[in-house]
Amino acid sequence: MPQSASLKLDDKEYPLPVLVGTEGEKAIDTRKLRADTGFICYDQGYGNTGSCESAITFLDGDNGILRHRGIPIEQLATFSDFVETAYLVIYGELPNKSKRKAFGMLLRQNAAIETQMQRIFEGFPKDAPPMAMLSSIVASLAAHYPSLATNNFEKDLANFDLAAAMAISKVRTIGAMIYRYQRGLPYIFPKQDLPFCDNFLHMMLSEPYQEFIAEPEVARALNLLFLLHTDHEQNCSTSTVRTVGSSAANLFTSLSAGICALSGPLHGGANVSVVQMLQAIHDEGDDGTRFIAAAKNGSKSNRLMGFGHAVYKNFDPRARIIGKACEEVLNKLGKEDPLLTIAKKLEEAALKDDYFLSRKLYPNVDFYSGIIMRALGIPNSMFTVIFAIGRTPGWIANWREVASNPKGRIYRPRQIYIGPVKRDYVPMAQRG
Ligand code: ACO
Repeated sequence: MPQSASLKLDDKEYPLPVLVGTEGEKAIDTRKLRADTGFICYDQGYGNTGSCESAITFLDGDNGILRHRGIPIEQLATFSDFVETAYLVIYGELPNKSKRKAFGMLLRQNAAIETQMQRIFEGFPKDAPPMAMLSSIVASLAAHYPSLATNNFEKDLANFDLAAAMAISKVRTIGAMIYRYQRGLPYIFPKQDLPFCDNFLHMMLSEPYQEFIAEPEVARALNLLFLLHTDHEQNCSTSTVRTVGSSAANLFTSLSAGICALSGPLHGGANVSVVQMLQAIHDEGDDGTRFIAAAKNGSKSNRLMGFGHAVYKNFDPRARIIGKACEEVLNKLGKEDPLLTIAKKLEEAALKDDYFLSRKLYPNVDFYSGIIMRALGIPNSMFTVIFAIGRTPGWIANWREVASNPKGRIYRPRQIYIGPVKRDYVPMAQRG
């Protein structure tokens, strides 16, 4: 392992420190490069830039490895549940019995949305995009609980446990309320005695005099979905949360920004686009050939949705777990979904195609997650909201890391300016 690096500009050499992470990831520390040389590093989209040191999630995209606080995702998916994994991701250790109980209690006690906040929903059109509603309503938590959202690192960290539990629990309640609001249904309030996922399904699907009792397979599958989305290193939404948080913006405001970033179809919104694509293939009676051919023309708007990943250049371990769970859930519920058959054929065809093979484009987590959600009775419009509920603990953990880093700087990248050089203002009368 090299211990030092240097950059040579003409004849002058500049030493650059080398950083090595606990899993052997290597970086060249260029923080002083501009001060020493006048040069910045150019890396559009930060694809090869480490923006922080983090102890939360390790991801090795070449080898399909994902670990939270050191524990492989496969083990968490098999032995843990969403709430326990959320605790692990946020606090760094698996909770013992009493800590798990206390955390669960805090989530239960902070699930409800108070009356004044409920009125916010009425300001939205019934057909508003759910993620636009979610981000706005989550941002409003800062207005409703100002003592937890002071925009002061120290004060906000002093109330962190409550704010974090509130965010995890209320994001779920708000998600369920968006579902009800859009359908003109009365809100169903959380029940203290229900586990996290059962409570979500209850708030979404119960009727005033008819409680929805989730089948164990359904609650388990939802738990798995949330768990698999808990955190994912410095993805677009998480780095957004860190960027916003680095300005000392409070947790709720930072989470709201993360929700906005997640909504895009190249990120969390892909789960909706995948099902739309599979449905279109189904409706056209096509075998996917048209979509595969269109995806190869290089246009961003025709990409094969659910394929490719910014860092996984092998397989996405979450996609493997979800793909398997998808079949199990459909079998257990005795449901058949023609879209699953289409998805499998599409995957097979794409993975034989040199375009996808040579670019290392494999199915990602979103490729199968929509099919599971359909089987659980969750409509397309809610898919990205489900993703956001799952990702909330990861965003919270990352916000906390930023807020509690005494040496942290505000996130402020540089750019290479390519606009016009200096020119004079032209008065209106002289403009052509
Ligand atoms: N279909 C067709 N071609 C693709 C796809 C795709 N899904 N993804 C990437 N490519 C092509 C690119 O056009 C590029 O081709 P080129 O080398 O000929 O120019 C090459 O593969 C490399 O792609 P990049 O753009 O470098 O990939 P990047 O890392 O920037 O993008 C991304 C990753 C956004 C996930 C991309 O693969 C994509 O758009 N996938 C579809 C949307 C999707 O499923 N998003 C969910 C990601 S998972 C998540 O956010 C939870």
